[in-house]
Amino acid sequence: LETFKLNFEDISIPFVCGEKIFPTILPLLKKHIKSKIIIVTDDTVKNLHLNSVVSTFEKSWSYKVLSSPAGESYKTLSSLANYIDLALRWGADRFTIILALGGGIPGNVGGCLAGLLFRGVPFIHVPTTLISLADSVISLKQAVNSNVSKNTIGLYYTPKLIVGDISFLETLPNREIKSGICEFIKNTLAIAPHDLVWLKDSLLPNFRSSFSSVANVFLKKSIAAKEKVMISDKYEKKNAIILEYGHTVGHAIEMVDAKIKKNGNSISHGEAVGLGMLVAAQVSNQIGFLSEENLNLHFQLLLKFGCRTRLPQGVTVDAIIDLLFKDNKRGYLSAHKNEIPMILLKNLGEPVLESSYPLTCIPIPIVRHVLEKMLYKSSEFIHAIDS
Ligand SMILES: NC(=O)c1ccc[n+]([C@@H]2O[C@H](COP(=O)([O-])OP(=O)(O)OC[C@H]3O[C@@H](n4cnc5c(N)ncnc54)[C@H](O)[C@@H]3O)[C@@H](O)[C@H]2O)c1
Repeated sequence: LETFKLNFEDISIPFVCGEKIFPTILPLLKKHIKSKIIIVTDDTVKNLHLNSVVSTFEKSWSYKVLSSPAGESYKTLSSLANYIDLALRWGADRFTIILALGGGIPGNVGGCLAGLLFRGVPFIHVPTTLISLADSVISLKQAVNSNVSKNTIGLYYTPKLIVGDISFLETLPNREIKSGICEFIKNTLAIAPHDLVWLKDSLLPNFRSSFSSVANVFLKKSIAAKEKVMISDKYEKKNAIILEYGHTVGHAIEMVDAKIKKNGNSISHGEAVGLGMLVAAQVSNQIGFLSEENLNLHFQLLLKFGCRTRLPQGVTVDAIIDLLFKDNKRGYLSAHKNEIPMILLKNLGEPVLESSYPLTCIPIPIVRHVLEKMLYKSSEFIHAIDS
């Protein structure tokens, strides 16, 4: 069992991590849990991992499980409102702990529930995806999606504790592993280029077969990258906006694809961010900032881990552009109505700054041109860098 501390300005969050740690952490949980527990999860995680969590404490405390099918379509205000009613009807009080068990979605919905119930009850994260373990729980941002755009209703809320049990990751499908890798690639390109050597030479594409041996390094590097910017910007509103590299276009692709494919086969969050990074890198290259070499590096890293470099079928450029106008980073800069603020790199680890924000207003036709190229020409490009 290893304990890290996440340090964001004046906030310090304990993060315990290890394999099959649930049976051993009861004394630690006892420090935080006074009365009852509400577990927020999704149906997939509930079937796979709920038992190993509740068997630790079912003799000590009463608990209630709030669960929905997995997916972005349940990361909504109506799911959250339903959970609030269910929690109150069950008898939740000011000391009831909210424990979010799952990926970024139960984490975000659980975080909103904890922040809103009685104006704030204690909150524990138990991440079960690579993205949640190494990215979303290392943040104070909690949000659900509105009917219009992603992550637009929420609050900042600090968990009391994060419990990372690496053994939960063993049941993850490859798609979700790739999703976590994409966020890691993002952090490396945008914040921590010194991790490139490890990412290129040491992290093997089939690393999940020996996940326990790399998980610790993966997690430490992820925490270091996020802390580097959040140590002075806990709310991710200034220099830490860089963590959203690839997310402007990525979120739009994710939302459009989720609307088209309702059966759970839509693009993962990480892969959408990967595509968003490719768009940002090409835009930056086109307007004269990012070198050809660093642009190619974006493609090479995503291809190394088998991640997408083309838009999912059915996702149109028009639908993406439509959503770009509703991106949650609008407002930091006074963008013209035909421009969107994007995070661009001029070099690895070095964003282009405008009014001291890592954002640049980009005319829509430039983004449209790049997106159209990715629809129709990216296979030629892949061929070019493969050969
Ligand atoms: N700062 C932040 O708060 C922040 C940062 C990054 C991402 N996010 C949010 O997180 C979400 C993406 O995270 P995610 O990919 O973890 O989403 P998710 O919670 O939907 O999990 C992805 C899929 O993996 C399944 N799953 C989870 N754990 C599993 C396990 N151990 N074994 C098998 N299957 C498992 C889930 O059921 C789901 O189908 C997005 O909504 C994104 O906006 C938030």
